[in-house]
Amino acid sequence: MSSSGNLLFSVEPGGRLSGTLRVPGDKSISHRSIMLGSLAEGVTRVSGFLEGEDSLATLTAFRRMGVEIEGPEQGRVVIHGVGMHGLKTPSDPLDLGNSGTSMRLLAGLLVGQGLGLTLTGDDSLSSRPMRRVTEPLARMGARITPSAEGTAPLRIQPTEALNGIDYRLPVASAQIKSCLLLAGLYARGDTCITEPAPTRDHTERMLQGFGYPVQRDGSRICISGGGTLKGCDVDIPADISSAAFFLVGAAIAPGSDLLLRHVGMNPTRTGVIDILRRMGAEIEVLNPTEAGGEPVVDLRVRSAPLRGIRIPEDQVPLAIDEFPALFVAAACAEGETVLTGAGELRVKESDRIQVMTDGLNAIGVDARPTPDGMIIRGGGIRGGEVQSHGDHRIAMAFAMAALRARDEIRIQECANVNTSFPDFVGLSREAGLNISQERGGRP
Ligand code: S3P
Repeated sequence: MSSSGNLLFSVEPGGRLSGTLRVPGDKSISHRSIMLGSLAEGVTRVSGFLEGEDSLATLTAFRRMGVEIEGPEQGRVVIHGVGMHGLKTPSDPLDLGNSGTSMRLLAGLLVGQGLGLTLTGDDSLSSRPMRRVTEPLARMGARITPSAEGTAPLRIQPTEALNGIDYRLPVASAQIKSCLLLAGLYARGDTCITEPAPTRDHTERMLQGFGYPVQRDGSRICISGGGTLKGCDVDIPADISSAAFFLVGAAIAPGSDLLLRHVGMNPTRTGVIDILRRMGAEIEVLNPTEAGGEPVVDLRVRSAPLRGIRIPEDQVPLAIDEFPALFVAAACAEGETVLTGAGELRVKESDRIQVMTDGLNAIGVDARPTPDGMIIRGGGIRGGEVQSHGDHRIAMAFAMAALRARDEIRIQECANVNTSFPDFVGLSREAGLNISQERGGRP
């Protein structure tokens, strides 16, 4: 499913970012719109859908389970919902490519369907931990088996019935929370999840948008099984996680002044703005409005001198996907930036602590890994060649680092940028980054 072959990014040093951009639709919300739209009664019309490989993997999976889905065409998707029990067994395993969100949320959504099927993924996804979802699902009565290593493929067998669960998440993870809430739709009684720290709440918001009651009491979220979803319109804002690369790029490149339009500003996602502001970044929040039950704003960012900080641990789940970009900001800041409490970064699309440390070191930055974070001493960026290990966010973060480098930065294995940000190269060039891409070559 995910892009094959090496794609190399070459980025000339220097430049600045300016103008007005709208980055692609939110990946988390795009996945959920397909999932809930498919299980709903009636038609769901989605706009702003992310046409990236990850959300398309979810879309294709539901088509293969018999859901009629029109589009995507310029971000518009029309889903003809089949109702809570209308999915059909796919003929072959469902390949979810690089997408952890597809696999973990589908695991929960599918165990109560009475279907037998298998979920697979690419090499990266097949090395990520899945017991964090299969164990609590098994406690609900699901028959779901990972590999001996606790990874994909996940085999699901039909089960008689699921029971609700009262579960405290061992890690702050929206994917585990969402997986169990989606299984809870099919369970007898209540499913209650307690989170150790707030994580993105798109599932809860969207369930309510589809008319399904969700109760939240502090850190505890409960739903009762047996209800139905009603098709609706979903307007998906631009992804703050994709905007993050431009926030960092414009913050670090002298003379930058960039407007990012219609960005999702869900308070469980705004850690990147909080952290960058603490470092001294000038980010203005303009034109607040709402779309599809989510707050939306325009963000204006201008370059400013940054200083190193100790990143507050409570911000970590709120910025969990933005650390590759934030590490580049730290490399350009004066003084030391210290991240702790972020061990989860080691089990993302790559080990983002190790891969970012190696890449930063390769371009002349003083960065040291710790078991659950990193220590970065800001200073000059020399330039050179880095390996992204096929991790989309690592590739995009290093592209932005070139804005402050002395020499060119070459980034290997960038094809997976298409999982979350199709046309990253085109939009970046429009904003002023001197980036080009080339197929083939090493590795
Ligand atoms: C996501 C949750 C996060 C995030 C991922 C998308 C989601 O993962 O890293 O990119 O859509 O629920 P965790 O919940 O495992 O931290």
